[in-house]
Amino acid sequence: MNLTANNHRIPLNDGNSIPIIGLGTFSEKSVEDLCTQSVKIAIDVGYRHFDGALLYCNEHEVGKAIQEKIAEGKVKREDIFYCGKLWGTFLDPEMVQPSLEKTLKNLQLDYIDLYIIEIPMAFKPGNGFYPKDENGKWLFHEVNLCQTWEALEACKDAGLVKSLGVSNFNHKQLERILNKPGLKYKPVCNQVECHPYFTQKKLLKFCQSHDIVIVAYSPLGTSRDPTWVNIDCPPLLEESLLISLSQKYIKTPAQICLRFNIQRGIVVIPKSFNAERIKENFQIFDFSLTDEEMKNLEDLNKNIRFVQLLMWADHPEYPFHDEY
Ligand code: A2P
Repeated sequence: MNLTANNHRIPLNDGNSIPIIGLGTFSEKSVEDLCTQSVKIAIDVGYRHFDGALLYCNEHEVGKAIQEKIAEGKVKREDIFYCGKLWGTFLDPEMVQPSLEKTLKNLQLDYIDLYIIEIPMAFKPGNGFYPKDENGKWLFHEVNLCQTWEALEACKDAGLVKSLGVSNFNHKQLERILNKPGLKYKPVCNQVECHPYFTQKKLLKFCQSHDIVIVAYSPLGTSRDPTWVNIDCPPLLEESLLISLSQKYIKTPAQICLRFNIQRGIVVIPKSFNAERIKENFQIFDFSLTDEEMKNLEDLNKNIRFVQLLMWADHPEYPFHDEY
């Protein structure tokens, strides 16, 4: 596949396609207008894919940037690919469409391109995004993920979304959807952590066998915020193999990481709200890694996650107890 800066969509199993690089938009810090400015810069640089979520509380800022760039004539709506996410407090079937409609309202769009279940773990609806009881105990909730999926299928049939997928699902949870009697639409993707220290070899093979694309979050190894990131794992971008390859190709370790994933057919969504790094992360179409280099990068795998979500390890649907 010849991926270029102007043409880097890859096919999805429902006949649609997805740009292989997108801009992640999750940020711990909210700085007025920074998200909007970053998305606008990204569109000028050539990004056409934006990964967001209701949970990130900045979808209106992403939407504002898209609207402004459409009004300027820089892009058309159909050039843009937006992925939104259904959070764990909205997994009851009757909450699915209202949640998607909130996203559409924030973005001022009448459809989005991809809507994914953000996490297979349900939380009690109605008490904010992170519900806890008065003793600080997480308020888990029980749903049948197959019924959540049917509600998503209805949203696609209603024209509110083009493609449906999941995130943070292990292969057994994916199988439950794939084996659902009467399944109308297969998930097109599973968005999971993926980078040279956590290569997802088995999950990738499983997904490929079902024509499901892996979308890599934290493809550069996260922001390393100790409040939610496992910092026992050394910083990915300081890895010596990445540094030596970056010297060979006159690239940065971040660009080597991203190139590694796209050469495996994996979509990458690095977040950056910094103009130079937004540009840097997009300059990955003018070089390629050899088969041997790809193999050596794969061998860096440590099977350690940066994003473990251990606070929810006793949730019945916690996805990361299984090997993949
Ligand atoms: P910044 O926005 O300041 O560029 P995520 O794992 O959620 O995708 O986050 C990526 C993290 O890495 C962000 O904190 C981002 O910060 C930073 N980052 C993005 N691009 C680069 C890059 N090319 N080199 C180093 N750090 C980067």
